Amino acid sequence: MYVIKITAIKAPHILTMKKNRWDDHYTRRARKEKWLARSVYKLQEIDGRFSLIRRGDRVLDLGCYPGSWSQYALQRVGDQGDVVGVDLRMPVHLQIRGFRFIEGDVLSLATEWLGREIWPRDLVLSDLAPSTTGIGDVDTSRSLRLAEKALEIACLVLRKRGGFVCKVLEGGGLKGFRREVSQRFSQVSLFRPGATRKRSREVYVIAQGFGGTDP
Ligand SMILES: C[S@@+](CC[C@H](N)C(=O)[O-])C[C@H]1O[C@@H](n2cnc3c(N)ncnc32)[C@H](O)[C@@H]1O
Repeated sequence: MYVIKITAIKAPHILTMKKNRWDDHYTRRARKEKWLARSVYKLQEIDGRFSLIRRGDRVLDLGCYPGSWSQYALQRVGDQGDVVGVDLRMPVHLQIRGFRFIEGDVLSLATEWLGREIWPRDLVLSDLAPSTTGIGDVDTSRSLRLAEKALEIACLVLRKRGGFVCKVLEGGGLKGFRREVSQRFSQVSLFRPGATRKRSREVYVIAQGFGGTDP
């Protein structure tokens, strides 16, 4: 049986980010500015460019651990908005009012249940990343599978004209995925934020103007 743990976090908590040998300029900056991960600068840049997050928005963050995207989104939506995060691991340092955590594997998540529980959302973010093997085709297809699932969830939980941001690895399948997204949203772009590591093949599909649940 699939078990879903939901955690509503109420108390404010001190934010931390561990040091490691891969630290770069963005990591050091993130630690100094008290973000939970360097990837916050990707979302910040995407938001700056596409004006995605507004005060009062209700956001779903797929693959939220360690929590910097949720942390950023919570600041942007303010007291009237909220963020639901889903991941295999709980972002223990993200103990902030307005954040709700669902622990689970998105690939086996009961999506209809999720739809009922959190609908409607203004924005769905997916920074989901599979554990990588180093074998290009395997990693690309795992990433695509997560992206397809994120799109399926987005179509269930978004309100009309809502937005969707989704990480995908460049390679076979990206064109087809973009086409699929274009059938549901009125504007779709591909964007590679400056904070993306040079060797990474990741790119973000930015979609706005969700057309509703009927294709
Ligand atoms: C790059 S990290 C996300 C970083 C996050 N956006 C942040 O700023 O803190 C990718 C996350 O996807 C999660 N993930 C990968 N596969 C998953 C799955 N099948 N279900 C749920 N989460 C998954 C991983 O556990 C990992 O925490």
